[in-house]
Amino acid sequence: MGRDVIIACDFNSREETLRFLDKFEGKKPFVKIGMELFYAEGPSIVREIKARGHKIFLDLKLHDIPNTVKKAMAVLSGLDVDMTNLHAGGTSLMMEAALEGLTREDGTRPILIAVTQLTSTSEERMKSDLLIDKPMDEVVMHYASCAKSAGLDGVVCSPLEAGAVHERCGKNFITVTPGIRFADGAKGDQVRVMTPADAKAIGSDYIVVGRPITAAEDPVAAYERCLREFVD
Ligand code: C5P
Repeated sequence: MGRDVIIACDFNSREETLRFLDKFEGKKPFVKIGMELFYAEGPSIVREIKARGHKIFLDLKLHDIPNTVKKAMAVLSGLDVDMTNLHAGGTSLMMEAALEGLTREDGTRPILIAVTQLTSTSEERMKSDLLIDKPMDEVVMHYASCAKSAGLDGVVCSPLEAGAVHERCGKNFITVTPGIRFADGAKGDQVRVMTPADAKAIGSDYIVVGRPITAAEDPVAAYERCLREFVD
């Protein structure tokens, strides 16, 4: 499994997204399409970016009854995405059903990763609203273990957790880590951040980078800097 940089295309229209990708000319970065763009433009935006030669991480975080998730995953698999995800909170039954739905007739399937606890959920909220009394890191590691047991390929996590996830679930269990910032860059609303070089050192497999690339004066140069720091 090679390391790669995934650009979070957090735009809300096809035009804006394609204008951004046009800047990359011959290069074909791995891109993340999230709910905002997918709900605005529908599956056609996935097909169009795929046809341009990009790998796609479709970040829709599915969470429903196993049968519904299985059927929805079959549709996403048909879109030929390279990576997609779900909430581990849907339980192992839902994760196993998702894998079944995602697997194509020829046995191939997109990479499937789990969201453990959202980084927007505090330990206090988890306790008061979800009635989960355990410490956050224990919950995150347990959800990662459940995802691994269900046959998933990895988790989305903070780069600060990537080392611990690999220790618990093995080095081949993929860690996809947002919260990346250049050493000399603005943090924005992210709190726990890491540079691409540090994410590499701690063992992240994929970094998801949004604003440090999309809002840069020269997005292509910022992307190449990520590649240099994280991949080379
Ligand atoms: O612009 P920025 O680099 O902060 O974007 C990070 C991307 O990763 C966004 O698409 C954000 O929604 C996503 N993400 C995150 N933290 C998580 C999960 C996803 O920042 N825990």
